[in-house]
Amino acid sequence: MCGIVGAVAQRNVVPILLEGLQRLEYRGYDSAGLVVVHDGKLERVRSTGRVVDLTEKSATTQGHIGIAHTRWATHGVPSERNAHPHISKNHIAVVHNGIIENYEELRSRLTTAGYEFTSDTDTEVIAHLIHSHYAHGTSLLAATQASLTELVGAYAIGVIAADNPDQLICARRGSPLLLGVGIDEHFIASDVSALLPVTRKVVYLEEGDVVELGRLAYQIFDATGARVERAVQTSEMSNESVQLGEYTHYMQKEIHEQPQALADTLESVCNSQSLVPGIFGAEAAATFADINSILILACGTSHHAGLVAKFWLEEIAGITCNVEIASEYRYRTSVPNPKSLVVVISQSGETADTQAALNHAKSLGHGHTLAICNVAESALVRLCKLRMLTRAGPEIGVASTKAFTTQLAALFLLTLVLAKQRGRLTAEQEQQHLHELRHLPSAVQKVLELEPQIAMLAVKFANKHNALFLGRGLHYPIALEGALKLKEISYIHAEAYPAGELKHGPLALVDKDMPVISVAPNDALLEKLKSNLQEVRARGGELYVFADANTHIHAADGIHIMQMPEHAGYLSPILHTIPLQLLAYYVALQKGTDVDKPRNLAKSVTVE
Ligand code: M6R
Repeated sequence: MCGIVGAVAQRNVVPILLEGLQRLEYRGYDSAGLVVVHDGKLERVRSTGRVVDLTEKSATTQGHIGIAHTRWATHGVPSERNAHPHISKNHIAVVHNGIIENYEELRSRLTTAGYEFTSDTDTEVIAHLIHSHYAHGTSLLAATQASLTELVGAYAIGVIAADNPDQLICARRGSPLLLGVGIDEHFIASDVSALLPVTRKVVYLEEGDVVELGRLAYQIFDATGARVERAVQTSEMSNESVQLGEYTHYMQKEIHEQPQALADTLESVCNSQSLVPGIFGAEAAATFADINSILILACGTSHHAGLVAKFWLEEIAGITCNVEIASEYRYRTSVPNPKSLVVVISQSGETADTQAALNHAKSLGHGHTLAICNVAESALVRLCKLRMLTRAGPEIGVASTKAFTTQLAALFLLTLVLAKQRGRLTAEQEQQHLHELRHLPSAVQKVLELEPQIAMLAVKFANKHNALFLGRGLHYPIALEGALKLKEISYIHAEAYPAGELKHGPLALVDKDMPVISVAPNDALLEKLKSNLQEVRARGGELYVFADANTHIHAADGIHIMQMPEHAGYLSPILHTIPLQLLAYYVALQKGTDVDKPRNLAKSVTVE
């Protein structure tokens, strides 16, 4: 969480910092701030609320070097005094993304040494620590390096000093940070989207790197302090992909991008005549031949994708699959199986719990690792031996949409490749699946046509406080995902249940005020589901059913039917996700919430 941007240039950097922050706001948005060096002094502007407020407040601020930050509060409430940058003795300014675990101990030591703390953050200790070293005459680089050795925890930081108008220091360990290389100017940012207006040339920093940037040059030092070269890469992210265009919200844009995102993710496979393990990496064939089970680790929506995959992997590929919430797995005592393929799923590839769970699995002896991820240069991708990149493009809305459906597509490919390798897929079945995958983007496009109907339906939810989501089998995780979307952006309390579980407790909640939303695919469990829906109706519950063709569930008093265009077999969970995303979106519009930046949340959860 939190976004960092910094610049050292010959021009005024304030507009660059503000534009960068605007683009990073999805990472955290409870307060924002920037600092520049001007006439040998630090000039800081901070604001609670959004970058737009900071922009107003910084109208007259100017400087050729500066650092800026948009915050997701961890230590200390969202307030101006806790907003970054933090400053020590009017001399050293720091922005930070991450958590310093030993900050209390450092804070008491620095207080004894005469430093006055003006915030409740963990970050402020970094500013004072660097100042304490810098005051003894060491360079800003050496003072930062010395301070970093005293920190326990995760950080990406940017540092400037009042008396050093051409030097910006940055460092990363556990939190993302990259350099931007311009013409006689250099930048830092938490992700490349922040820098697209000024450069596409970027250097992805490694764990433990510390960098000294000037206007004309930069030097990178690795975790041991040795000078190193890192490749300059050209980002392919397009500027349009991070702009809203004709849409009202990023979430709406991203829902509509799903046909293209799926086509892009499936491109290499759909253009070929057969499935090969190589789509997961050069070593995939050998790895897949050596495994006897799958362990999926992920959080939130990505975890739901894993739950769908379990059904596919066990039924189609005949391989045992366990799916664990990463934040739980990392702390429990599990029984490791070195023959298991550990699959981490993540949109951002930065999620702290997923990274920690992967490292935990490795420490237990799990050597076979696969990342399914939307960010090619992310930590998770780099930590895994195998990878499959979802090609959803940048996802800015906090609620995950296109990342989820493309994760499902990637997991279905994994299922098919394993099924083939294990002799469970005939050539005819393989061709049939490939045919269905090629058809998937247009099938999703067709479902999107339900948007006007769903927008009308959403009106009925405006005054609701609770909702139940039902699904069965392969679609139970889709009910979970629908409930997560609704609560995340509309703040309506929503729960999901496998429909057969209703009578074991939750049925007690059902009355005329409880909307019950059901996913009703035309699959083997349809008749069972229909009985469950009758149980709801008999208790006065209002039903909203997303039903495939030929399910013969008819609209009636208290039963609202949304007709899905077709039944998509194993790919049905992907199609059934779309209307639930749209429902959450339109209910949020009814409630007037901040759809793309729901309260208390941030896009990338880079803290535990
Ligand atoms: O980047 P990741 O996929 O690892 O993120 C995991 C969750 O934080 C994320 O899916 C979250 O649940 C979404 N905001 C839900 O819409």
